[in-house]
Amino acid sequence: MEFKRNIVITGGAGFIGSHVVRLFVNKYPEYKIINLDKLTYAGNLANLKDIENKPNYKFVKMDICDFDAFYKLMQDEQIDGIIHLAAESHVDRSIKDPFTFARTNVMGTLSLLQAAKLYWESLPEKYEGKRFYHISTDEVYGALEMTHPEGIEPPFTTTASSGEHHEAYGEDFFLETTKYNPHSPYSASKASSDHFVRAFHDTYGMPTIVTNCSNNYGPYQFPEKLIPLFINNIRHRKPLPVYGKGENVRDWLYVVDHARAIDTIFHNGKVAETYNIGGFNEWKNIDIIKVVIATVDRLLGRPEGADLDLITYVTDRLGHDARYAIDSRKLQAELGWEPSLQFEEGIEKTVKWYLENEAWMDNITSGEYEKYYNEMYKN
Ligand code: NAD
Ligand code: DAU
Repeated sequence: MEFKRNIVITGGAGFIGSHVVRLFVNKYPEYKIINLDKLTYAGNLANLKDIENKPNYKFVKMDICDFDAFYKLMQDEQIDGIIHLAAESHVDRSIKDPFTFARTNVMGTLSLLQAAKLYWESLPEKYEGKRFYHISTDEVYGALEMTHPEGIEPPFTTTASSGEHHEAYGEDFFLETTKYNPHSPYSASKASSDHFVRAFHDTYGMPTIVTNCSNNYGPYQFPEKLIPLFINNIRHRKPLPVYGKGENVRDWLYVVDHARAIDTIFHNGKVAETYNIGGFNEWKNIDIIKVVIATVDRLLGRPEGADLDLITYVTDRLGHDARYAIDSRKLQAELGWEPSLQFEEGIEKTVKWYLENEAWMDNITSGEYEKYYNEMYKN
């Protein structure tokens, strides 16, 4: 079957990648969507059960560092678009094992770039109609001051277009022009990969785009990250390890809204541009944790405040960034994207999803998911 476009999405078995794959497979039956994933501990094909038999979907188990295999895939499938999400993504793991982060995030990205370059430059039309879209993070910008406007305590959710957020916070946001200043091995590796992507545009003329997004939350997130870990711990009445004083601020975006932004930018974004993606939704960790506890308790029919005693302050993360806050006005103004969900709605949906999908969570926490798929996709 001939498809209008042949697109590789790397890291499609992970959290955000699975939402991007689902959106593209369902919305664009005329595109062939190839999910390329190594299936590390973070990859789980159960995230894509609802679309795995669609005629425009194909899964390929591959390491992004395998240059030869990827070059062959580019040729065999005549790939014209790459949406690159595969990465080692957890800051705490990067503190323990920085080498794996440099290998996958830096060398893996470089390997994809070089294979795409060789293949696209071998075609008569060269880079025309091609796109290399690299998904990055706000963490590359470093950390903002933990200052908040007087009289306003986070959570402080507004719509970006209202300008209300800026009236309160001034200009203390990450902009597309903010100088890179990564602190963790994870963010240093992502920053390096971003530089390589831009270098391939500036040196060879490859049509690249980079986006930097804030913290995502929603269904299918691996339970090492704050929100799914805490929902699961509350469910089982296990301690909730809050790093430091719980005062660090993160800017949360519902994952489907990130996937929608990726769709918009892949199709309409300008080559060589950077777009920040975020929903102006800053929360102190301790405040968001209290909202998660209250939501889980209400949905499980437990008395209000029943699980607040699970909060356990633990040693802080090394080099813990104080505050992230994304300014996404460029994306809003130039491409018309905006978040579809208010935070209250998003967190309710998210907690409900984890409570209704206990089997998905238990399969991960028991390690069953790895055994099953490793058998199925043996090299
Ligand atoms: P994730 O850890 O849930 O998923 C990563 C996926 O990449 C997994 O399926 C894993 O198997 C795959 N992978 C890892 N190494 C690979 C390799 N060498 N070859 C092929 N596949 C490999 O990550 P996520 O949270 O979905 O993040 C996806 C991307 O978005 C990352 O690039 C991350 O830096 C970026 N990002 C994440 C957030 C967030 O809040 N989670 C925010 C902004 C940007
Ligand atoms: O900002 C985007 C980034 O968001 C992405 O690039 C990363 O891939 C993603 O993992 C996420 O990074 P964070 O480090 O912000 O997310 P995490 O869920 O690990 O932690 C959120 C905050 O909660 C952070 O301040 C650390 C704190 N925390 C986290 C865990 C896992 C705790 O207090 N206790 C915990 O057990």
